[in-house]
Amino acid sequence: MLNRSKMMKMKQENEKIAMITAYDFPSAKLAEAADVDMILVGDSLGMVVLGYDSTIPVTVEDMIHHGKAVTRGAKDTFVVVDMPFMSYHVSIEDALRNGMEIYQKTNAQALKLEGAGELVLETISRLTEGGIPVVGHLGLTPQSVNVLGGYKVQGKSKETATQMIQDALAIEKSGAIALVLECVPRELADMISQRLSIPTIGIGAGAGCDGQVLVYHDVLKYGVERLPKFVKPYLDNNEEIQSALSTYVQEVKQQAFPEEQHTFTIDKHLLPDIKG
Ligand code: KIV
Ligand code: NA
Repeated sequence: MLNRSKMMKMKQENEKIAMITAYDFPSAKLAEAADVDMILVGDSLGMVVLGYDSTIPVTVEDMIHHGKAVTRGAKDTFVVVDMPFMSYHVSIEDALRNGMEIYQKTNAQALKLEGAGELVLETISRLTEGGIPVVGHLGLTPQSVNVLGGYKVQGKSKETATQMIQDALAIEKSGAIALVLECVPRELADMISQRLSIPTIGIGAGAGCDGQVLVYHDVLKYGVERLPKFVKPYLDNNEEIQSALSTYVQEVKQQAFPEEQHTFTIDKHLLPDIKG
């Protein structure tokens, strides 16, 4: 299994880290069988699995519920679990308690936190000190979508780009083991990747990052209709599944399913005599 020092070694040797999200037992099993380096139990589960409009309604309980299923499905893979909206913003005590609960109950290898505010940085360093590895997340941080004013590329001005570089360095200094960069111009992501000694994992941040992460349901086109520009779908599950389900429904209606081979039988004489 991956660990902090192997991750650093991969960065030094320019071996890219392949990460994908997973939210349940089957997706975790398939991701592990595909040899991904890391699995993220993202709070994106709020959107792709639970049908919310954003990640904001996702709770600590949701993350634990899905995180447990993922670690059961991918026992030999490094699993990172997102801390959800506001679970690390009320106070340092609250953040540490929530982090500890998610980490212990899910049996994950690390947690991920968005942003680089004072409390977030303190939480990263205190969790790390307590033995919980932390992954940072900058650029488009979906838990702050309403502060950012929508899902859009971040760091497009000199001020915001400078801030992001400073934030990235502060996250590394706080002890984070890796940093996710979401929707960041390639040139800025490259610059951050070169300045940090921990690996950057990009999503919509170009090929210069030390790794890539995508959402499981996007990669497989599974239940999602519109894909962001940065996604490459490797399969169209929507089409395959829709057609399989329609065929099933038709065969039930047409009495073409079940067939003999799907059916259990006993000898007629074993059936009870029911009279009158
Ligand atoms: O929740 C998620 O899926 C994420 C990735 C997009 C990085 O945070
Ligand atoms: Na997330």
